[in-house]
Amino acid sequence: MQSNPLRDVRDRRLPRIAGPCSVVMFGVTGDLARKKLIPAIYDLANRGLLPPGFALVGFARQDFGDQSFSEMLKAAAQAGARTPWRETVWAQLEAGIRFVPGSFDDDAAWLQLAATMAELDEQQGTGGNHAFYLSIPPGLFPVVVGKIKEHGLADQSGGWRRVVIEKPFGHDLASARELNTLVSEVFPRESVFRIDHYLGKETVQNILALRFANGMFEPLWNSHYVDHVQITMAEDIGIGTRAGYYDGIGAARDVIQNHLLQLMALIAMEEPVSFNAESLRLEKQKILANARPATPMAQHTAQAQYTAGWAGGEHVVGYLEEQGIPEGSRTETYAAIKIDIATRRWAGVPFYLRTGKRLGRRVTEVAVVFKAAPHQPFSKNDIEELGRNALVMRIQPDEGVTLRFGAKVPGTTMEIRDVLMDFAYGGAFVESSPEAYERLILDVLLGDPPLFPQQEEVELSWKILDPVIAHWKREKTIDTYTSGTWGPPTADAMMERDGRTWRRP
Ligand code: BG6
Repeated sequence: MQSNPLRDVRDRRLPRIAGPCSVVMFGVTGDLARKKLIPAIYDLANRGLLPPGFALVGFARQDFGDQSFSEMLKAAAQAGARTPWRETVWAQLEAGIRFVPGSFDDDAAWLQLAATMAELDEQQGTGGNHAFYLSIPPGLFPVVVGKIKEHGLADQSGGWRRVVIEKPFGHDLASARELNTLVSEVFPRESVFRIDHYLGKETVQNILALRFANGMFEPLWNSHYVDHVQITMAEDIGIGTRAGYYDGIGAARDVIQNHLLQLMALIAMEEPVSFNAESLRLEKQKILANARPATPMAQHTAQAQYTAGWAGGEHVVGYLEEQGIPEGSRTETYAAIKIDIATRRWAGVPFYLRTGKRLGRRVTEVAVVFKAAPHQPFSKNDIEELGRNALVMRIQPDEGVTLRFGAKVPGTTMEIRDVLMDFAYGGAFVESSPEAYERLILDVLLGDPPLFPQQEEVELSWKILDPVIAHWKREKTIDTYTSGTWGPPTADAMMERDGRTWRRP
């Protein structure tokens, strides 16, 4: 085979461009598709990362014509795009947009979908390569996956066929296994892409760079020097219009099972032998397999629901007053869990995970808090204002890394106080970070798997969480916290028992 002497795979100026393909989207009229997926596809096109032979097919009950469907997509793309709007880019995308009306159990609609895919292969040059993107409630999975199989659409002989699955991956271990059985009967393992959009974030990938590209952090990254780790994902928004999804699910299932446990695994894992998918997943799995909620759970977990209060200068209602929430719902909108990792590196170093809606502000961060110096030659008075050294990875917003340590306050006495050393993405790099979904959608189209969790990780995460949820279920009541605060007093008490406090991010 002849190769192009001017092309070298190591050349980073060569963008990773997807080959000919289509994305067939289920749930295309949903929130996620409109706010994140469609804008991400436009941004990829605008960055020149999609091929000319690209198509986007929507399948939904609502009846759009091709024309009005593409107008809906255009409005979503314009509203959510990160990169500048260019009509020429949109016009090119539009040529490959199709819509198939019908309900998911309607065979006639599936025949039309098959015909549309074949037509796109012919006319748009998608080459038989199609990704089925399932952004639908879990209850609809069996019918959609079943029909994909029945209509032979997962047949890999004429090109690749992949399936993209949005969370929730079940609501406990048993249902996650059922879901997996269903999907694995239709798609081979390497064609299944489970989305945890946190793994698509630049700052999350930077955890690997920070830990393994540098020499100075790793020697400290263990129980000799680390006191504990705090992983916080706080949101100022309430549940908005998502009552149908959120109620009965709650904070722990919504984000701890996936995003926060993935962050924990990246922070705690050993160095993978390479960054290929297999090595990376193996190291994360070892951590998840050895992680357990600390017991007794009544002392080391907290859960609560927001009540009315203030958010962003506005008065907001409590969870029970949100539209669509059944009276007396006990779904938690705040969750905090202490996790122990039984490995040589982490024995005795707790990982505290917390998340909540309607908290003080939107912030996700990982703080590695170090032990105090073994000996202090300073008087108690001198170090009164000295806290613990900490390395804080700011996942969002205000992306960056902060190191906190003590320094002498200028003056005639030896007074030591905490100061911060800061790296901010905005100041260090000129290019802005792509959205998580741009990276993940592109990786699906390229068939690049490292950023997608496998079933093993999903199951191990449920094994950690299931006992906590079962414990909460046995409790008669649920705590509350006022909107706009930093969570319930029980969460503070949980830390105080350990002689620690939550960081105020
Ligand atoms: C989703 C959760 O996975 O993450 C939502 O289902 C949450 O409840 C969202 O709001 C937050 O994502 P991000 O990227 O804004 O932190």
